[in-house]
Amino acid sequence: MASDALVLDGVHAHYGRSHVLHGVSLSLRRGALLALLGRNGAGKSTTMLTIAGLIKPSGGRISAGGTAIDALAPEAIARSGVRLVPQGRRVFPSLTVDENLAVAAQMRPVPRPWTMERVFELFPHLERRRRQRAGTLSGGEQQMLAIGRALMGNPEVLLLDEPSEGLAPLLVVEVVRGIAQLKAEGLSIILVEQNFKLAMTLADDVVVLNTGAVAISGTAAQVLADPKAFTSHLSVT
Ligand SMILES: Nc1ncnc2c1ncn2[C@@H]1O[C@H](COP(=O)(O)OP(=O)(O)OP(=O)(O)O)[C@@H](O)[C@H]1O
Ligand SMILES: [Mg+2]
Repeated sequence: MASDALVLDGVHAHYGRSHVLHGVSLSLRRGALLALLGRNGAGKSTTMLTIAGLIKPSGGRISAGGTAIDALAPEAIARSGVRLVPQGRRVFPSLTVDENLAVAAQMRPVPRPWTMERVFELFPHLERRRRQRAGTLSGGEQQMLAIGRALMGNPEVLLLDEPSEGLAPLLVVEVVRGIAQLKAEGLSIILVEQNFKLAMTLADDVVVLNTGAVAISGTAAQVLADPKAFTSHLSVT
């Protein structure tokens, strides 16, 4: 629907001659969290990179808020309000936490613009590291910083690729709490996650990819009614 935050319609993607996405379609409802699941190599990150414009789709359409974005450059997609926190969390290692956030700031017409102070309210852990160089942070702290950097761009759609990967359990809790708060504030979110149970604590809708195509999709209620139909496409249950 035109009112959806993000729509993929029959999206194909290639790495050179290797055909990796085979007509992926999905809709992210406004203010909802869509969990994008699938085994290693299923095409989750490729889908996220393609939405963000870092891989050009070789077929299909992608629109945000009813406007086509698939022909735009990555910077223009970010400016349009679609922000990716890539797998492996990219921060500037030699800049401090404050500096990383400051350089990411971009004004957009949103109801409550993001400030550094708001990022620190969301992730109090990060505030204690304000003057520390990002390269010396723990993995979990870098993940919070990477999310904070995306938020400083005042997005409407946030794409999170495995934010819990490799984090100590306590920091996973803080990151998950932060994501839940962003959802409560009305951000539309696609969350790629290996941990099915963790994904289900946050998800409104679920899409499972298998070898670059949508194997099954549904609402969280449909997943709860028949979890095996969904987990049969995943490595872990
Ligand atoms: N830069 C690349 N060049 C060529 N093939 C790639 C490249 N990146 C990924 N692929 C291939 O594309 C397919 C999808 O990879 P992708 O990274 O999207 O999977 P994923 O679902 O994110 O997996 P993971 O859970 O391991 O992160 C895999 O077969 C992978 O080997
Ligand atoms: Mg991936």
